[in-house]
Amino acid sequence: MDPFSILNQVASAPNAFKENEPGSREALIAHSHLARGRTRNPKLNHPAHFLDRGKRTSSQFHTTSNSAIRNLTFSLLIPQPSQSATIRLAVGVRLFQQLKEAAPTRLTSVALSEKTGVDVNLLTRLARHLVAMNVLAFHLGAFHATALSNGLVEERYQHSILFCYDATRPAFNGLPAYFKKNAYQSPTLAGTYGPFQEAHGMELPFFEWVVAMPPQLRHFNSFMTAYRAGKANWFEEGFYPVYQRPIRGSDAEIGEALLVDVGGGRGHDVIAFVALYGDLSGKVLLQDRESVVARISECAEGRPFEVQAYDFFTPQPVKGARAYCFHSILHDWCDEDSVRILKDVVPALDRGVSRVLFNGIVISEEKSTLAATSMDMMMLARFSARERTEVEWREILERVGLMVVRIVTYPGVSENLIEAELA
Ligand SMILES: C[S@@+](CC[C@H](N)C(=O)[O-])C[C@H]1O[C@@H](n2cnc3c(N)ncnc32)[C@H](O)[C@@H]1O
Repeated sequence: MDPFSILNQVASAPNAFKENEPGSREALIAHSHLARGRTRNPKLNHPAHFLDRGKRTSSQFHTTSNSAIRNLTFSLLIPQPSQSATIRLAVGVRLFQQLKEAAPTRLTSVALSEKTGVDVNLLTRLARHLVAMNVLAFHLGAFHATALSNGLVEERYQHSILFCYDATRPAFNGLPAYFKKNAYQSPTLAGTYGPFQEAHGMELPFFEWVVAMPPQLRHFNSFMTAYRAGKANWFEEGFYPVYQRPIRGSDAEIGEALLVDVGGGRGHDVIAFVALYGDLSGKVLLQDRESVVARISECAEGRPFEVQAYDFFTPQPVKGARAYCFHSILHDWCDEDSVRILKDVVPALDRGVSRVLFNGIVISEEKSTLAATSMDMMMLARFSARERTEVEWREILERVGLMVVRIVTYPGVSENLIEAELA
């Protein structure tokens, strides 16, 4: 992009944010990253975004080679491991909780050391690093909480930090050795031998491992909820036209199920969906593995949606629903497994009525974003799977007799909505 276009974009960003335009918050964050490598603005900072803070726009690196090398080294290779390790350490000693509970009182190094049990020298260095990261603040000789550190106290963010560091990070650390050992070939063993299994010294596929290793399942589910927080949902106005697409036609023409969220986790999507579309008739169903939805039945009494334990490698029991949604599902699986999953939903579809909605990343071959390629690498490390390009999406859907009707994007959101129906 030429420099004037970049400057124009930067100049228009604050107004767009004031007007609450879709994607404006993300654009402003990207611009402030470019300008200073981070943002102090509490209106922009969101704990969910903080988890992704390593993301940078690629244009940052398109400067002279010397400054590009400096950027790469100083903004990535040196700070990143220290930042994530310090955050993980802080979670382990409940540092953010101590500061939140003490507020509005600030805590000196000595006071914070006593509360956390971390020796005062070490504590000072860790807390100083957190101040440099704009997670904590330091004033008049004492540390205090910020909106961001208070946000990180929430269970979903604490769990997410534990999950990213303890479960996923070892797989990334081991990537170079794993691929050297395996002659730099893509993993082929459908999730039973890949970087994740090598890092954790076992052969269980990821989703079996999280169940077998409490509290990993809880941490993973919290991570999914936190990852979604603050992002536009596919069913929000201006993203995908819910009223015009799966909802069209009279109730007499359609099956009794409105939306089936297949592999919907703990239900963050369906909860938001029913809150927006409470007026629509037809059941909303959340389906996931027994181990995941068992907990939801316990804690979400009175919910206006149904919860169903269902393994998506078995035939879909809900027939003729208006929409079956797969949100971030197929990127966890290789092509063969993805085809098996889809073959189990196709017989349930009612021609002309049922749509299959895939809410996921479509990797651009021309202009891939760091958000998309980072997720692709995450899928490689964790599942030996991948994000797909449009061509790859179309191919996989064609293999099971589905065709793409449209692909919708939304500003500031890396996940697209692919609408498909029987070919
Ligand atoms: C990446 S998460 C996506 C969760 C949710 N759809 C979202 O986008 O936030 C993948 C989900 O697939 C579920 N899952 C994995 N294997 C499954 C299976 N065999 N049957 C049903 N759900 C499964 C997991 O429990 C998890 O909730």
